[in-house]
Amino acid sequence: VKIFSDGADLADMEAINQNDFVTGFTTNPSLLKKAGVTDYLAFAKTVVAKFPDEPISFEVFSNDFDTMLEEAKLLAQLGDNVYVKVPIRTTDGQSTAPLLHSLTEAGISVNVTAIATSDQVKESLEAVVAGVPVIISIFVGRVADTGVDPMPFVHDSIALTKQYPDAELLWASTREIYNIIQADALGVDIITVPPSIIAKLVTKFGQSGDDVTMATVKGFESDIQATGL
Ligand code: E4P
Repeated sequence: VKIFSDGADLADMEAINQNDFVTGFTTNPSLLKKAGVTDYLAFAKTVVAKFPDEPISFEVFSNDFDTMLEEAKLLAQLGDNVYVKVPIRTTDGQSTAPLLHSLTEAGISVNVTAIATSDQVKESLEAVVAGVPVIISIFVGRVADTGVDPMPFVHDSIALTKQYPDAELLWASTREIYNIIQADALGVDIITVPPSIIAKLVTKFGQSGDDVTMATVKGFESDIQATGL
């Protein structure tokens, strides 16, 4: 599985890029807000200049197709490595399938985002034009957050995406390191991982159960000392 970094903090992105196993980036409006980005276009230009060879996804902000199209063109022309993120629904619940069609017809690579059902995966794949690389982002963690086992959704999404040679399936809403193992074992193409989990991947991956126990009791000890008990 390819591992992307999921965040919009430039310093984090630069630090994370030092890890060879990170081969791309995803951002979204909430991550931009969290990172304090106020000039989106300037941020996007800087990111593309710093990482010219790695796939980077930037999301459109609007909800009407005409403005979304203009935003998409603006973002796409920043670099050949840019995927324009388009949510599968507008905020009033409209399908963006016609827009996905127009964008890919114009040769723009899209990352269809906010997908939470396999029907939406199918809808996206049927909308895009062949010959243009596209990413299909399934929000696995957000589905799991509702108390539903997301794995049937993941399995169905893999089977659907495999029928489209230009499409890659991306596991989004990653919640834990084990999601990377799951994505890899199942044959998901990409998983995007927040910096906090990438940090854990570097420090904790491969620890034995005994290592986990010792780290736990040492953590308790240091917290006991801090409480002055
Ligand atoms: C990435 O492309 C997605 O926008 C991101 O993984 C969503 O993560 P969240 O559901 O934890 O906010």
